[in-house]
Amino acid sequence: MNTTPPTACRAWRNLEAHAESWRGASIAELLDSDPGRMLRFVAEAPGLRLDYSRQRLGGLTLKMLEQLAAERGFEEWRRGLFTGARLNSTEDRAAWHTALRAGSEAPDEVKQTLNRMFGLSEQIRSEKKFKRIVNLGTGGSDLGPRLLADALGDGALETRFAANVDPADLARALEGADPARTLFVVVSKTFTTQETMANAARAKQFLQGRNHFIAVTANTEAAKRFGAMEVLPMWDWVGGRFSVWSAAGFSALCALGAGRFAAFLGGGRDMDRHFREAPLESNIPALLALIGVWNINFLGAATHAVLPYAHALRLLPAYLQQLEMESNGKRVDREGRELSYATAPVVWGAEGTVSQHSFHQLLHQGTQVVPVDFIDAGADPVLSANLQAQGDALAWGTAAREASLPPHRRYPGNRPSSTIVLEKLDATGLGRLIALYEHKVFTQGVVWNINSFDQWGVELGKQLAQEILQRKE
Ligand code: F6P
Repeated sequence: MNTTPPTACRAWRNLEAHAESWRGASIAELLDSDPGRMLRFVAEAPGLRLDYSRQRLGGLTLKMLEQLAAERGFEEWRRGLFTGARLNSTEDRAAWHTALRAGSEAPDEVKQTLNRMFGLSEQIRSEKKFKRIVNLGTGGSDLGPRLLADALGDGALETRFAANVDPADLARALEGADPARTLFVVVSKTFTTQETMANAARAKQFLQGRNHFIAVTANTEAAKRFGAMEVLPMWDWVGGRFSVWSAAGFSALCALGAGRFAAFLGGGRDMDRHFREAPLESNIPALLALIGVWNINFLGAATHAVLPYAHALRLLPAYLQQLEMESNGKRVDREGRELSYATAPVVWGAEGTVSQHSFHQLLHQGTQVVPVDFIDAGADPVLSANLQAQGDALAWGTAAREASLPPHRRYPGNRPSSTIVLEKLDATGLGRLIALYEHKVFTQGVVWNINSFDQWGVELGKQLAQEILQRKE
């Protein structure tokens, strides 16, 4: 596999020269002078469309970016991803989350665990012994199931989440809860995470001797010592931020029901097939990744906003923050060499239209250009109209009416955005969307020659906090 720095690739150097000619380019002119652009600069995948006609790039740019991916050995890396190769070199592990949603082709241990999860969740939902289920976990053991339950929960169970070590978080999740009718799902791959262990200990006190614990972990010994009545496995070949498809998604399974959770896995599988089979020029995750590389490395963008126009997806930006920044917020390459080029941007965002009344001022008139992903879930015509209006305002600005406007009322435009259109905002659609971003992150990691699957940058703070606590004791 190619581990040379991307800056040494011919395509990278060509892109640098090419970028010079694009710096003064106008998105408005590109759109106005070429009515076919909006039809050509789109790509289709099952149930999902990407419109990138409002990006500051042309056909040649895309060819060069595809050339860069090819030079980086993209196909070989992708093969490794789907075959469980040990891509996570610093931890000597695979990153095989795609196996979790591979259906009939999944490894036996995955199928057996899914069967157990589905059986257990159906029992919990039908017996009605438990009224409330509380997920205790943080990072990847929280954000994914939280997003799914919030977006698609059917209300059969009250579903709550506590992620913070601050006792106020769990206290709020337990407001009005009856210990006799509350089930805790303790999700921790390591079963050592301070926040989760502290909340699990508090939950024990709340339950007053009852064992209403299901543990999800790769550290089964620790979970047994803790005394959970059921332990569902995780595997070292699944990273926390890629684990929502596994037993780490158990609370979401309980909140959604078996049918929807199965549909969610199916959506991930659809996107896997698309990512494996579609040629680069119409491969949506690869395109999103390469457009990101163009904006970050060649046009100088430092941040990236994700704006889902659907209340159900309000937690998506937080989910993507971990997925993108914990994966690709790296400063050395696979060989440990310090990087001379940028990697992950700061990812941020919020649900539209609420965001319009908050930070869109900066998007339209601030001094930084922030590329945007709009997500159109077709939830409502007013939402879609607002989404389109925002994309238009970013691209065109007020150039046409500028003469009559004072400076503070002018919009410069020329701010790039893409729109991801979901055919339907259901479990399948959400599965497709999350898998799409996973593969985007993977592709960028390949281009940047970094390990997207470790997270050593979170360790020092944990260690120092322990030391500070010990000094205080
Ligand atoms: O501290 C970061 C992290 O390790 C994440 O990568 C992970 O998703 C989260 O903590 C939770 O870890 P665990 O599932 O082991 O409790």
